[in-house]
Amino acid sequence: MPKEPDILKAYKKAMTSPDRYLILMGGAGSGKSYFAAQKILQRMRTEDGHRFVVVRKIARTIRNSVYQQMKDVIHNEGWEEEFKFSESRLEIEHKEKGNTLITTGVDDPEKLKSLAQPTGIWIEEATELSARDFRQLDLRLRGETVDYLQIIFSFNPISKKNFIYKQFFTREPEELKNTYISITDHTHNDKVGQSFRDMLAEMEHLDPEYYKIYALAQWGENSNAIIYNYKLISKMPEMLDEVLYGLDFGFNNPCALIRVGYYEKDIYLEEVFYKRKLTTPQIVELMNTRQIGETDYIYADSANPDKIKELQQAGFNVKEAQKSVFNGINKVKEFQIHVVQNSLNLLNELDNYVWKTDHDGNLLDDPEKHNDHACDAIRYAIYSHLGKRKQSVIWGHSG
Ligand SMILES: Nc1ncnc2c1ncn2[C@@H]1O[C@H](COP(=O)(O)OP(=O)(O)OP(=O)(O)O)[C@@H](O)[C@H]1O
Ligand SMILES: [Mg+2]
Repeated sequence: MPKEPDILKAYKKAMTSPDRYLILMGGAGSGKSYFAAQKILQRMRTEDGHRFVVVRKIARTIRNSVYQQMKDVIHNEGWEEEFKFSESRLEIEHKEKGNTLITTGVDDPEKLKSLAQPTGIWIEEATELSARDFRQLDLRLRGETVDYLQIIFSFNPISKKNFIYKQFFTREPEELKNTYISITDHTHNDKVGQSFRDMLAEMEHLDPEYYKIYALAQWGENSNAIIYNYKLISKMPEMLDEVLYGLDFGFNNPCALIRVGYYEKDIYLEEVFYKRKLTTPQIVELMNTRQIGETDYIYADSANPDKIKELQQAGFNVKEAQKSVFNGINKVKEFQIHVVQNSLNLLNELDNYVWKTDHDGNLLDDPEKHNDHACDAIRYAIYSHLGKRKQSVIWGHSG
């Protein structure tokens, strides 16, 4: 019998669990992905007749995440001689046993369809999948093996709006058949360093919702709000690195001008005006009375080049905004957001600025399109002006 891999104590039971559904929920750095790779590789070394499939939502994320993870474990355990790799297909085979492992994205339907009766599946970052994605995989797990068939789910508990929460966390434990649930956080993993733990500890104040999910490994309530952790302030601070503006045009919809100040990793927002039925001369007048300077950067909706031209002719430093929505939002979310409390329209928009969801309530990468004029203006300013600044830690669930 080949030697057991070096498994963290918290995963000893999960290692031997033969249940159909093995749930690895946990905070950041709790060792879930590493353990899932260890378990599958050990089964490839010791059992027979296996065809494992490792799945993520997006195929192109596989090479640098799960596939690399598998190779790291093989290397760390000193198993290189036992396995054969196909770097182009991202597949692994155990030479002696003939057990195979292939990888695929849910976004690759051809490959999914061609899966020949897998005997084990690992879904990495499983909250990225929809309930239907999961059911498709569950239906396919019916291969023949003398050992057991198992789906491993590894994920951070980012939101209760998710099929995993509904399927495995809303029922009485005795109702849950064929399921083993493991919940871990960084304290279960002695392999992560102190600076990582310090960073997590800091999140308690910077972003309590993220702290709850990534440090405490508890389900996020977060529903589907995009920016939910802003703080209210009474007025703009005096000390700022720079002040700029975002401008979203509208006539029947409001025209929104937002002042954006930043200082290191903090962003301060204030509504300058938010008004319907403004003509361009009226916008110019308002900008003059609100003392927008002629060198202040103003990033405006590039869908209105005529209005931008008119504002430039009136002496304002207006630029066309970079409009990539998803990247823009991600940039905004790198900062701690503060909002001046009398910015009522802006605050109202922020509270209603939510991700779209699919029919199962899973979050999509696209915001709901309603009342997002001030939010667009913020994004224009921050992404256009700061988008190319070096990114610090990107704090997200996929990695
Ligand atoms: N048994 C182990 N032996 C050696 N290193 C380990 C072991 N388990 C985990 N690690 C290391 O600990 C770190 C965190 O582990 P891992 O990436 O598996 O965490 P995770 O729970 O998947 O985190 P995230 O939620 O951020 O994806 C990694 O650098 C990994 O290599
Ligand atoms: Mg992981």
